[in-house]
Amino acid sequence: MDDITEQDIFKAFKKTQGELSFPGGKLELPTEERFPEIFDVIKKCFLTDEPLEKSLQLEWSSEVEEIWMSALRSKLSLIIVDENTKKIIGMRAIRVTKKSDHTDVSLIKDESVKKLLEFFEYTSEHPNVFEKYGITEHFEFFGLAVLPEYRQRGMGTVLMQAGVSFLGHLKRPSYIKGSASSNFSKKIYDKFDFEAIGDYVFEDYKVDGKVVFDNTGEHKSMKLYVMFLQ
Ligand SMILES: CC(C)(COP(=O)(O)OP(=O)(O)OC[C@H]1O[C@@H](n2cnc3c(N)ncnc32)[C@H](O)[C@@H]1OP(=O)(O)O)[C@@H](O)C(=O)NCCC(=O)NCCS
Repeated sequence: MDDITEQDIFKAFKKTQGELSFPGGKLELPTEERFPEIFDVIKKCFLTDEPLEKSLQLEWSSEVEEIWMSALRSKLSLIIVDENTKKIIGMRAIRVTKKSDHTDVSLIKDESVKKLLEFFEYTSEHPNVFEKYGITEHFEFFGLAVLPEYRQRGMGTVLMQAGVSFLGHLKRPSYIKGSASSNFSKKIYDKFDFEAIGDYVFEDYKVDGKVVFDNTGEHKSMKLYVMFLQ
């Protein structure tokens, strides 16, 4: 990743932008000035509707913001803005994750954030994609969000298509890892050439004998997906 320049990112993005057309929206690479608006989108989509965070009743905090910043710093995330209002409609957060990356969960103060990170730690060991594929880094689809008033019009699918195309143009690292905690995002992953390598049923994931994610409604598991970029 260290050898991917901002120019590489821009070139790959321009190719993807040229390939995709959809009514009412425009694909963009977000600038830092957009970050506060991106945080608003995350609050409106993830804290309220994403099954894991909704179940934990996660609240916005500096620790939550830092998790999202770990993705935004890679400068690989994509947004769709409304053509008329220029406001963000949705986001495909993307980052590069390295084998050497480590978050010390014991330092996290917010119990809900801790539970979420412990679950991600557990899933990242079952299986460990670095070992499974003999790699030291991979792209990671970190979060997919579409504002409630724009949902069920194919925007989530367009954002996924944009992400796959964009990383395909960059090519390195050669794998994308992603996870889907909602039935809707699973439907989206299943439209593309991802291989499902894990399925974590919420009622089976227990800590100290207690189910961590309850009240997830119709969303019963998180699936882990991997794609090899040819
Ligand atoms: C997941 C999310 C990004 C989907 O966005 P979207 O723009 O509605 O996605 P699409 O319109 O491309 O829909 C994808 C599929 O899911 C279905 N779907 C989406 N929302 C649905 C709903 N509320 N009820 C039933 N089906 C739904 C669509 O009908 C479509 O199915 P199809 O492929 O059979 O036509 C959006 O619901 C969201 O932001 N959720 C909150 C955050 C979240 O949970 N993100 C994913 C976590 S991994």
